[in-house]
Amino acid sequence: MLTQLFIICFLPTILAAEFIGIARSDVVRSKEMTLDAFNQQLSNYWTSDKLKSAKSLDISLSKTNSKSQPINNAVLTGPESSIAGSLPTNNSTKSKIISPNGRQVYTTGRVFWQVGTTHYTCSAAVIVSKSGDMICTAGHCVYDTTSKTWYNQNNWVFVPGYNNGNTPYGIWPMRRVTALVGWTSQSDYNYDVAMVAVSTVNGQHLQAYVGSQGIGFNFPRSAFTYSFGYPSNINSGLTLQKCSDTTKNSAYTQNNYHGLGLACNMGPGCSGGPWLQNVVDSTGIGYVTSVNSFQITTVPNVINGPYFDMNIKNLYDNSTSM
Ligand SMILES: *[C@@H]1O[C@H](CO)[C@@H](O)[C@H](O)[C@H]1NC(C)=O
Ligand SMILES: *[C@@H]1O[C@H](CO)[C@@H](O)[C@H](O)[C@H]1NC(C)=O
Ligand SMILES: *[C@@H]1O[C@H](CO)[C@@H](O)[C@H](O)[C@H]1NC(C)=O
Repeated sequence: MLTQLFIICFLPTILAAEFIGIARSDVVRSKEMTLDAFNQQLSNYWTSDKLKSAKSLDISLSKTNSKSQPINNAVLTGPESSIAGSLPTNNSTKSKIISPNGRQVYTTGRVFWQVGTTHYTCSAAVIVSKSGDMICTAGHCVYDTTSKTWYNQNNWVFVPGYNNGNTPYGIWPMRRVTALVGWTSQSDYNYDVAMVAVSTVNGQHLQAYVGSQGIGFNFPRSAFTYSFGYPSNINSGLTLQKCSDTTKNSAYTQNNYHGLGLACNMGPGCSGGPWLQNVVDSTGIGYVTSVNSFQITTVPNVINGPYFDMNIKNLYDNSTSM
């Protein structure tokens, strides 16, 4: 079942050592929203009360920890590569502030959207891009694999530095989302990642205003890593939380899952929050190497996230070409 919708690459011999037998997932894009005129309406919609009452998505997906199938490290391997993050270039007083926690506070935030009468929330982070408008989150925060639809694009927004119902760095509406078919068609947690381009707000680009995190591909699987997010089980998800530890192979070994696990007590709401390696203390800027994805019901206090391999690099490269 897993391989049905994947395209297996038959690459020239010279690449065979890197790519042999590995599933490659196509990129899929949502429609594009043209929202500059809509911005004011959106920020009026998202009142502090709505932000505070938004529901966190459940991340313990009743996955059992069966050891019956050995892990198949089906990583679409390639050379380690990275793109460095950036400090804000807008020197307004607000965007210049670096707290003792560094830039992290401003590049990480929460996303919000509405389905029917319910408001939902996840976490996300600004990642470096040419357009200066890109955030990275989990696939399950943008696409509903049950109804096979993108979540409501009309009021899906990113709030950097979200704090207790406040939006200190504004509300940035989704312009377009890019994800992988491996997530949208297969619900495969190896591909639980999405890149979201946001609209400019008053002509200003998000990255110029709050800075950006770098992104890293094919990084070491075992490395000291931070995870950030807004989990509802800690301070009701009102403030940014973090965990840190050395990553390990995920204990979830079914369905060719080759993601990583990180000791962390963050629960629902932290989904989509960035995992960061090589963070520079003075700036809070590092390299996003995964996002918070799911917990295994039988393995408490460990968050699992996809390994950023060449599939995720293809996703990133495609999204930055928008
Ligand atoms: C990105 O993916 C879309 C959808 O598959 C495709 O149409 C487009 O050509 C891709 N662009 C690049 C630059 O890879
Ligand atoms: C912002 O400040 C930095 C450091 O002081 C300076 O190098 C840069 O030119 C300034 N940028 C703008 C747009 O004023
Ligand atoms: C910098 O941010 C301020 C405050 O949001 C804004 O008024 C100004 O236009 C921005 N400057 C640039 C060059 O984008």
